[in-house]
Amino acid sequence: MSRWSVRVDPAWSLEAWRTAARLALRHAVAPDQLDWLPGSETSLLDAPSLTSVEDGRAPPAEPQIHVPKSFVELAAICLCHRDPQRMSLLYRMLWRITHGERSLLSNPADADVLRAMALSQAVRRDTHKMKAFVRFREVPGEQDAFIAWFEPDHQIVDRVAPFFARRFAGMRWAILTPYRSVHWDGQQLSFGPGGHQSDAPMEDAREELWRTYYANIFNPARLNTRMMQQEMPARYWKHLPEASLLPQLVRDAGDRVQEMHDREAQAPRRRIPQAIAAPEPAAETTPATLDALREAAAACRRCPLWEPATQTVFGEGPPNASIMLVGEQPGDSEDLSGHPFVGPAGQLLDRALRELGIERSTLYLTNAVKHFRFERRGKRRIHSKPQMTHINACRPWLMGEIENVRPQVIVCLGASAATAVFGAGFNLMKNHGRWHVLDDGTRAFATVHPSWVLRQTGDAARDEAYRLLKDDLQHLIEVQRTR
Ligand code: URA
Ligand code: SF4
Repeated sequence: MSRWSVRVDPAWSLEAWRTAARLALRHAVAPDQLDWLPGSETSLLDAPSLTSVEDGRAPPAEPQIHVPKSFVELAAICLCHRDPQRMSLLYRMLWRITHGERSLLSNPADADVLRAMALSQAVRRDTHKMKAFVRFREVPGEQDAFIAWFEPDHQIVDRVAPFFARRFAGMRWAILTPYRSVHWDGQQLSFGPGGHQSDAPMEDAREELWRTYYANIFNPARLNTRMMQQEMPARYWKHLPEASLLPQLVRDAGDRVQEMHDREAQAPRRRIPQAIAAPEPAAETTPATLDALREAAAACRRCPLWEPATQTVFGEGPPNASIMLVGEQPGDSEDLSGHPFVGPAGQLLDRALRELGIERSTLYLTNAVKHFRFERRGKRRIHSKPQMTHINACRPWLMGEIENVRPQVIVCLGASAATAVFGAGFNLMKNHGRWHVLDDGTRAFATVHPSWVLRQTGDAARDEAYRLLKDDLQHLIEVQRTR
């Protein structure tokens, strides 16, 4: 059996990995015949390079490789991890997917899938930290030029850089990390080698200005002390010029949330004018604790559904739940009680969860649309499906919930929820029970809605529909076990 080696350069590049993986697949090089190595520096100990596999022979026909989009997304995230096995893990998964195990990703009990999910989770966490804790300092003697030092756990600079480019589009900045640097000149991003902490000015004359800046842009609604304590190890704190202001800001946060809420639509004031471009507007105008969101949603008039309904039914559950269930819209009982999933559909869901041994109280339950849409028939109010316009109008609330709860897993119950989370065109019957990875790395799948189960006519059909729902929800047992 021949052995080959292949180098992926840079090691976190999806393109580089994909090119190599395609070449290997095309030549039917099995996973255990191939050593995956990071970077471009070859060593005498390397097995012959895969690039020489074609030497002297006619290349086989280009195979048609169709892999699920969710696998490609997962691969892009996992490649940023520092685990030396990640590239071979991904190739083994690709091999299995293209050799008869097309729905591999729907099996979260599989050891390879589990490992890949764990890697992606770690990279997501690291990405989140970098977005939250990078602090720029002005370069002495340069106008509007800023530099930051950051030590990510994984190789995420390329992945996160576009976020900073959008957020700080109007200034020139660089972020240095031990393995890679990135520079934004106001027009484009360029990447270079890693740096040293001493390359980034730690103290400068503008320290006071920075403190004022942070005290002003510090978004109090985003302040989450639990998260800060957990996710802000001393090694981040030490680089933060505003650290000394934090206790005060924490104390003031309550008042300032209210104040922000009061002037929601108004652009926030800034003390450093031209240096910082406006952050994405959605981030700034969305109230950002769950309580603030709930309160704001109670007065929502973004679509006409609020008027005939009794009240907004917002999501409920632990604010740090690892699993979020998204339904369609409140029904009659939910509309009257103000709580999600308390009527017949909720009871069926409860039964399924109970039978699977999943505690409902550990889940965050919400709906794609927060007001009951119905038609009157005599005294009765009959459920009427929300339209795309309602789902779109209501989506910011759902996104706000996702952003705050930051669940590891989202379950969409029914087509409306799936549309709200995955976008229009999601085919529920074709894709139910399959794992997907959202842009922010959150894992998600859709299944049928408990009301759909209840609507089936005949015991046999209902039993079968119920079994389908329960089978899909089995994923959650695995999620809870591996937490
Ligand atoms: N159906 C839903 O989608 N949500 C509820 O809260 C109740 C029924
Ligand atoms: Fe607002 Fe959603 Fe209610 Fe429409 S359904 S009014 S968007 S909360």
